[in-house]
Amino acid sequence: MSRADLLQQEMGLGPAWRPRAGWFEQHPAQLPSHAPEAGTEQAAMAAAPAEPEPPHTGDAIMAMPRETAPAVPPPAEIAAAATAQPEPAFAPEPLRAEVRVESAQLDWPQLQSQVAGCQDCRLCETRTQTVFGRGNPQARWMLIGEAPGENEDRQGLPFVGRAGQLLDNMLQAAGLDREKDVYIANVLKCRPPGNRNPAPDEIAACNGYLLQQIRHIQPTLIVALGRFAAQTLLETEDSIGRLRGKVHRYQGVPLVVSYHPAYLLRNQPDKAKAWQDLLLAHKVFRQAAN
Ligand code: URA
Repeated sequence: MSRADLLQQEMGLGPAWRPRAGWFEQHPAQLPSHAPEAGTEQAAMAAAPAEPEPPHTGDAIMAMPRETAPAVPPPAEIAAAATAQPEPAFAPEPLRAEVRVESAQLDWPQLQSQVAGCQDCRLCETRTQTVFGRGNPQARWMLIGEAPGENEDRQGLPFVGRAGQLLDNMLQAAGLDREKDVYIANVLKCRPPGNRNPAPDEIAACNGYLLQQIRHIQPTLIVALGRFAAQTLLETEDSIGRLRGKVHRYQGVPLVVSYHPAYLLRNQPDKAKAWQDLLLAHKVFRQAAN
C-alpha cells in the first residue's frame, strides 16, 4: 500500500481524500470561516481504550546523525504537499522567566536512572514504573505527549496503546520511523491514576526532566501533541485551536502544535487537521535543517 493510500485509510477519509492540486486551499480547515474545534479533547483522551501496538513497517528518513545528515528529502508526495502549505507563520516568542532546571544537567543514563527513582510527586506511589521515552536520542524530531496511560505504565514505554498505534500510522504516512527518526517523550513520566489530567504541581515536578531530555536530544523540531504538552512547553493557557497552524519556539527550537492522538481517535474529522499539522512540521523541519 502506498503512503498516500495508507494515509487515506488512516485519516478515515476514503479515496476522496487523495490530495490533488488546490486541495489544501479548498479544505474547510483552511477557510477563515472554519469553526473552531469543540473543546472535548480531555474527555476523549480519558475515554480512549488501550490496545497493543502493531509492528512497525515505516520507511526511515532523517535518521542520520546530525553531523553527517544532508537535507534528506521526505517522500515525494509529502514534500509536494508540504510545499503546498502556506508559509509557516511564526508565533511571537513570549518573554519567559529564566528556565527552571532543578537538578544539574545529568548525562543520559544518569537522567534515566534519576527519573526511574523519582519520588518528587505523589504519582510515584501509584505508578508501576516510570516511562522515560522511546526512539532515537539522536533524532531530529522530538514528539512530546502528555503522560503514560495504563499500557504505558505497564510496559514502561510511551504511546503503546491505541493512541500510539494511530501515532505510528501517522508518522509512517509522513515517512517517519518512530524508532529511528523521532524521539517520543511525555510531559509526565508517571501515569496519573485513572488517566486523569496531570495536576499543575505534577507538571512542575516533572518539567526539569523534560527540559533535560530536550537539551540532550537537541531536536531540530518539536511537535507538541495535545494541550498539556503545548501549554506546558509554551507556558500558555491558549487552546490547541489557537496554538496549531503556527510555528512557535521552545528554547529556540521550532515547535509545532497538533492534536493528541487519543483525541483524534474520538474526533475523526480532525485527523485532516492533524495531517496538516504534520505537513507544516515537515516544512518547518526542512527549513530548519537547511
Ligand atoms: N498518551 C500520552 O500522552 N502519552 C503516552 O505515552 C500515551 C498516551
